[in-house]
Amino acid sequence: MRDRGPEIVVVGSANLDLVVSVRHHPAPGETVLGGDLQRIPGGKGANQATAASRLGRRTAFVGAVGADDAGHALQQSLTSAGVDTSHLVVAPDVPTGTALIAVADDGDNTIVVSPGANRTVDRDLIATAQPLISATPVLLLQLEIPGEAVTAAAEAATGMVVCNPAPAPPRPLPASLLEAVDVLVPNETELTALTRSDPTSSLDDLAAAAATLGMPAVVVTLGALGALLVTPDHQQRFPAPVIEPVDTTAAGDSFCAALADHLVEDPGDLPGAVEWAVRVGAATTLRRGAAPSLPTRDEVEHRLAGLRP
Ligand code: RIB
Repeated sequence: MRDRGPEIVVVGSANLDLVVSVRHHPAPGETVLGGDLQRIPGGKGANQATAASRLGRRTAFVGAVGADDAGHALQQSLTSAGVDTSHLVVAPDVPTGTALIAVADDGDNTIVVSPGANRTVDRDLIATAQPLISATPVLLLQLEIPGEAVTAAAEAATGMVVCNPAPAPPRPLPASLLEAVDVLVPNETELTALTRSDPTSSLDDLAAAAATLGMPAVVVTLGALGALLVTPDHQQRFPAPVIEPVDTTAAGDSFCAALADHLVEDPGDLPGAVEWAVRVGAATTLRRGAAPSLPTRDEVEHRLAGLRP
């Protein structure tokens, strides 16, 4: 049974992204005019599931949408990417999660999420999905759903647990979650929030901060600088390809999916997983939108071809 089940299970959020391009991000109190509004499938969990499936992995998504057009569109988007949505529930009387996204000329984004149905993902849904979660080689988690569901999923897993602590949590993660996680994948903002460290830290300081978490492995995503792998006995930076990003939305999500993708194949090869994840994340920034930007395995190399390593 196990070899026919999903290779990656993603427990997390699904959002409809409302995206506007802007010349620059507005400062508090400032109004800026942007481009035409676009409605694009997104949500960190759904993006990670879509990315894993596009990379060729049998993938299942556990989450919730509302009984509305947005929820229907998100379910269709996941299904057409090949994701198993048998544990995507439709929550009554609550809207589908929505993300308000501004993308500036340099590709950087700001995101405000209204969780909607994502807030209904609870221990009961995790219990329903337990047969999938406990059988999968790799479980992928983020923090856009309630913490109790994230912890319950991590505790139910028997394979590797990869957790992307995004968005940055307002308080330290519970010990029960950290103990169940094998690989934590924060960006610099999230690492700063988790460790109360200096946001202007050098790479050595970031590595030292990551080490204080006492995890088997921490992979800090560094945007254009690539990523930093920190284990109790190893510290290594993986540079990113030199590119000109058009939209960084979902780059962190495809990074996590690629990490999981490699760990399915070789659970002991974290350096190889990070090297692959950096390339997939970079390729994602070369296309616009969340779900539409997530590359297949061939598209990663195709998009990066001709660029300086
Ligand atoms: O990581 C990008 C995602 O964050 C967007 O798709 C948005 O929905 C938010 O969840």
